[in-house]
Amino acid sequence: MVIEAEDLQFVRRGGGFSLTLPSFSMAAGEAMAVLGSSGSGKSTLLDLIGGVLRPTAGRLSLFGQDATGLSSTALDRLRGDRMGVIFQEHNVLPFATVRQNVALGVRFSAARRARLTGPVDAEIERLLTLMGLEPAAVLHRHASDLSVGQRQRVAAARALLGAPDLIIADEPTSALDEGNQARFMALLNAARQETGAALLFVTHDPRLVEGFDQVLRLDEPAQSHGEDD
Ligand SMILES: Nc1ncnc2c1ncn2[C@@H]1O[C@H](COP(=O)(O)OP(=O)(O)O)[C@@H](O)[C@H]1O
Ligand SMILES: [Mg+2]
Repeated sequence: MVIEAEDLQFVRRGGGFSLTLPSFSMAAGEAMAVLGSSGSGKSTLLDLIGGVLRPTAGRLSLFGQDATGLSSTALDRLRGDRMGVIFQEHNVLPFATVRQNVALGVRFSAARRARLTGPVDAEIERLLTLMGLEPAAVLHRHASDLSVGQRQRVAAARALLGAPDLIIADEPTSALDEGNQARFMALLNAARQETGAALLFVTHDPRLVEGFDQVLRLDEPAQSHGEDD
């Protein structure tokens, strides 16, 4: 199993926010969407899975290992070696080239480098192509020269480099217009199926969760302060 989460609970220090999750598990290659409005705890859930935050209660197993017993260093290594991460925005280093940005996917993990099946440049080009980008046209451009939609696709290629077992994506399409959202979803799904990665995809948009193997719905928060997504 990629993830086994049993009665996970997270209480933010100071007590302002608490998240109680139903038990869930994800098998290799599965796609799971997490749907919830702004402030419902979606990013918190991804931080728990990524080992950035630790659960207050419950059991979490990642790739068959008990994650609650691991040190912070071991959790960082687990994330670097086995997870690819796509954020909402600011994914790319603007003044690095597209090639350099994608190559970062394996820069800090010998395990990820070891999983490359050929030369890194060939794999970068393959993944850019899978994400609908023409390698020859974009490889040596600064990421800042690309559109937001193209930058998110570069971020997806980076997340997929070195065949991580799990991609975690935090509202990666929220800065895109509707046409580009649909295109990004289709490309990401095709690419992750091709690479065999499981996907944990967070969104506030119910239109995006079609086609996922599982959908986890987070409770609506008490509407207090208007927070932007
Ligand atoms: N670093 C933080 N410090 C204090 N509160 C935070 C922090 N990050 C998030 N929160 C609060 O925790 C709750 C859940 O946030 P989050 O997981 O980011 O929700 P979502 O991603 O669904 O919008 C919100 O009430 C938010 O304001
Ligand atoms: Mg969030």
